[in-house]
Amino acid sequence: MHGKPHVKVEDLTIAYRGEYVFNGDGFEVEGPGLVTVIGPNGAGKTTLFRAIMGLVKPLRGRVYVNGEDVTGSPGRAGRHIGYVPQLAHVYRGFPLTGRELVELSLRLRGRPPRLHVPRGVRERAERYLRAVGAERFADRPVSRLSGGQLQRILIARALARETPILVMDEPLSAIDPRGKEGIARIIEETARDKLVFVSSHDPIMFLHRSKYLMVVNRGIKGFGSPEKTFRLELLRHAYGGSVYMIEKCIHVFER
Ligand SMILES: Nc1ncnc2c1ncn2[C@@H]1O[C@H](COP(=O)(O)OP(=O)(O)OP(=O)(O)O)[C@@H](O)[C@H]1O
Ligand SMILES: [Mg+2]
Repeated sequence: MHGKPHVKVEDLTIAYRGEYVFNGDGFEVEGPGLVTVIGPNGAGKTTLFRAIMGLVKPLRGRVYVNGEDVTGSPGRAGRHIGYVPQLAHVYRGFPLTGRELVELSLRLRGRPPRLHVPRGVRERAERYLRAVGAERFADRPVSRLSGGQLQRILIARALARETPILVMDEPLSAIDPRGKEGIARIIEETARDKLVFVSSHDPIMFLHRSKYLMVVNRGIKGFGSPEKTFRLELLRHAYGGSVYMIEKCIHVFER
């Protein structure tokens, strides 16, 4: 890997049941830095992230990650990108502990797993589990973790891969209010030398840490510096009438 982390999406076109979620959309971003993606429920944030991860094959368009065409190829995208899926979409029934989940994602890349966990893998998993405050519950089966606990495990799993790019789909959604700031800070630190995409319904947590803001609502409606992009008209356009200016702050009340 060489050069700065880089993602380019061209002419992205995705439709479900004849309805476009994206239609000819694109953007290009070079890291490091944090890209915060906002938009109401059903806007297409997860769909965009899944397209970047190669998990959705678009009707039209290409996704390039660090110069490589990863369109529709999760294997290729995954070599460059660590992924935190939206918690609501995560299958929790598999018989693994949180720690095993993190270790497995480190061991499966490129090499067949061996019966014992190599020391390097064990130490790296431990380091990231600690960083996100997951060491207390890391040895419980995933099926018995709370939403916030599993979310921390998933963040550790993505970070532990030490990829130049991260895509995190609502990584704070289940974290309790006191924990949110800590995780947001870890994400901010990660974005110092990596390109990090994060979606959130809580943009205040990320806005001041972001290099770019993207407003999505059935297409990319705005993309640029947070100062330029976090504008009332644009947010009204994305969220409809549920955006208000109160005391010089923009508030979003979702319907
Ligand atoms: N696999 C799928 N099959 C059919 N429709 C889908 C599929 N995935 C997404 N959609 C539809 O695409 C649209 C965008 O969904 P998406 O999950 O990307 O939104 P989102 O912005 O992530 O929303 P949320 O904030 O609720 O997570 C929605 O109308 C959704 O119903
Ligand atoms: Mg989503």
